[in-house]
Amino acid sequence: MRIKIRDAANGDLAQIVEIERLSFDNPWSRDSFLRELSLPFSRTTVAMTTNGANDSILGYLCRWLVADECHVLNVAVRPTARRMGVGMRLMEHAIEEAKRENARFVTLEVRRSNLAARSLYRNLNFEERRLRKNYYGSGDDAIVMELRLDRR
Ligand SMILES: CC(C)(COP(=O)(O)OP(=O)(O)OC[C@H]1O[C@@H](n2cnc3c(N)ncnc32)[C@H](O)[C@@H]1OP(=O)(O)O)[C@@H](O)C(=O)NCCC(=O)NCCS
Repeated sequence: MRIKIRDAANGDLAQIVEIERLSFDNPWSRDSFLRELSLPFSRTTVAMTTNGANDSILGYLCRWLVADECHVLNVAVRPTARRMGVGMRLMEHAIEEAKRENARFVTLEVRRSNLAARSLYRNLNFEERRLRKNYYGSGDDAIVMELRLDRR
């Protein structure tokens, strides 16, 4: 499948929110994404199919670029498009951008129980740094993961 990555725009929000709702128990609202689109240090990209007229959004990634750090806030792929490399492409795109902008780290939090996402990040050489107990509520821990860019 051919995948194109581009910056998100307000017109993408309906599809982004649809994927968000299909992906998380406590999804971000449309307003949350709208706010991210307006913040100067926040960037949201979408992954699109490039199959003619029926282009649709397959996934998105939202991150903050602040000082020497890129912090990934949100990434999700449409359930019907998973395991086709879309999540990997979105992450690689964000990492390449962070390198270009001289960031030294890419960081994120992931649910301990989210084995798919942890595996994706480990494949990209992220290291599991710290545990945040009950970060997502009782018994639901977060793992802080970090990719050092200045070691390469
Ligand atoms: C996590 C997520 C973004 C991965 O997106 P994806 O497009 O399916 O991932 P890719 O196809 O690029 O997979 C890349 C690698 O990630 C790992 N991976 C992805 N899905 C996996 C799964 N269900 N089980 C185990 N490993 C998985 C594999 O190592 C995979 O490489 P491989 O296919 O060569 O084995 C997607 O599952 C998703 O949207 N989940 C719901 C939202 C979410 O949890 N977001 C992350 C919050 S921190």
